[in-house]
This record gives sequence, C-alpha cells and structure tokens, in this order.
Amino acid sequence: MKKVALITGSKGGIGSAITSQLVDDGFRVVATYSTGNYESAQKWFHEKAFDKEQVRLFELDVTDTEECADKLIQLLQEGTIDVVVNNAGITRDGVFKKMTAQAWNDVINTNLNSLFNVTQPVFSAMCEKGGGRIINISSVNGLKGQFGQTNYSAAKAGMIGFSKALAYEGARSGVTVNVIAPGYTGTPMVEKMNPEVLESITSQIPMKRLASPEEIAASVSFLVSDAGAYITGETLSVNGGLHMN
Ligand code: CAA
Repeated sequence: MKKVALITGSKGGIGSAITSQLVDDGFRVVATYSTGNYESAQKWFHEKAFDKEQVRLFELDVTDTEECADKLIQLLQEGTIDVVVNNAGITRDGVFKKMTAQAWNDVINTNLNSLFNVTQPVFSAMCEKGGGRIINISSVNGLKGQFGQTNYSAAKAGMIGFSKALAYEGARSGVTVNVIAPGYTGTPMVEKMNPEVLESITSQIPMKRLASPEEIAASVSFLVSDAGAYITGETLSVNGGLHMN
C-alpha cells in the first residue's frame, strides 16, 4: 500500500514541486487547493499529467478550523495519513506603518493559524498509529526578518516555534516535526516582486541565484524518507547562503 502525503497549497510554485517529488518517491498525494479554485486545480492536475492513483485533489480552506477538522477526520476514516506538508502560504507585503489589519490577519491566518487547523486532527491520528512526518515550509525571512514583511516574518517565525514544541510532543510516538526554510525561490510569489527589489536581494545571495522549487522539494523528500527518521525539531535552511544560522 502506498503511503499518503497531504500537501497544502500543492499547486503553488513550491507545493507543485513537492507534489511531483513525493509522487516520484511513491507516495499517494492528497493535494489541497483553496475554496473556489477547483478549475485551476484541475488544470494543474492535467498539466502535470498526474493520475488519480498518484494525486487526489482535495478542497480545503486551511484558515477554517471547523472545516479542516470535519474534512480531515472524514479523510482519516478512509485511511491513514503518513505525511503532512504545511506549505500553503501568501504574502501581503508592505511597510508596517501602512499595513492594514486585513493584511496582517490574512497572512497570520493562512501561514500560521493553518498549522493548528490542518495539523491537529492528523497529529492525533499519527500518535495513535505510532508514526508520521510533519514538514512545515517556513522561510529565510522567518529567521532573519525582512523589510516590508512584519506579517510574513512573524508567521514564518511562528511556524518554527510551533514545530519545535510539537516535536517534543510527537517524539515518543515516532512523529517527527521539521521545518524547511527556503530562501528566495523561482515561484510566482517571488516573480511578482518589484524587479529592482528582487535584483537587489539576489545580489546579496552568496550563490547569486534563486533556488529552484525542485531544490526545496528535495529536502522534503529527504526528511520524509526512512533516512530522516531520527531528525526532529530541526529547521533546514535552503537559501544559497543568504542567512546562516
Ligand atoms: N532596508 C531599509 N530601508 C529600506 C529597505 C531595506 N531593505 N527597503 C526600502 N527601504 C526604504 C526605502 O529606501 C524608502 O526610503 P525613503 O522613504 O527614505 O525613500 C522606504 O524604505 C520605503 O521603501 P519602499 O519605497 O520600498 O516602500 P514601498 O511601500 O514602495 O514598498 C515593499 C514596500 C513592497 C514592502 C518593498 O519594500 C518590498 O518589496 N520589500 C521586499 C519584500 C520581500 O522581500 N518580499 C518577499 C516576497 S517573496 C517571499 O516572501 C518568499 C520567501 O519566503 C522569501
């Protein structure tokens, strides 16, 4: 029987690469997409030439606590979930003086509160089963901060604290909890930045280039593999040297 990986935000830049990687690794992926995006999810599914044995599209509003509990408990009745990748994330960049409460709340809800909503039902089931892997996709900017990203940096740093705390709680049941902190990666999220700002940031990256989404996905693949079984509570930076812990 194939192992099952639930990946949130799976049709985004990094999410899509993680989905393809875990399919190649032999997982069946439950690929979540946000409410109202069925058509674009279908389009992505066909463009990537997945079949239904490899990828199951699953509508999930990661900001809705009740919906996540209901739908994930239902999903768990159909079978186990071995891996969760909390990847869904958004930006609403702006200097703090001008930031609206909406821009703050949207980012905290999608990037941080989603960890509670999505992880809690599955974590309980993983502990009962005696094993599982949780991977949270944070960011270099959660580690170092970034001008214009108080909301995003707060959420991404929060993911790291959450992961370390949950790693303690899962360890005795064989549930590992780890973080990947990507640097600037070639995705639509980064491509929509002001080109001059992006160029100035890229010039500060020791490797002088963006990461590819596949380079981020490779780290997820390692952490969910048998070889990663003894790693927990760790944050793995994949940032071309932009920030060294
Ligand atoms: N440090 C110090 N001061 C800075 C600065 C910096 N890094 N960047 C800009 N400033 C200064 C400017 O010089 C300007 O000063 P003056 O008013 O004296 O001229 C002032 O701050 C305002 O700057 P902007 O003109 O840039 O302000 P803006 O409102 O037009 O733009 C912003 C704000 C959109 C947030 C812009 O600063 C920006 O794009 N910042 C980068 C945000 C970023 O890195 N986003 C990453 C998105 S991708 C992602 O998040 C994925 C991931 O995980 C890495």
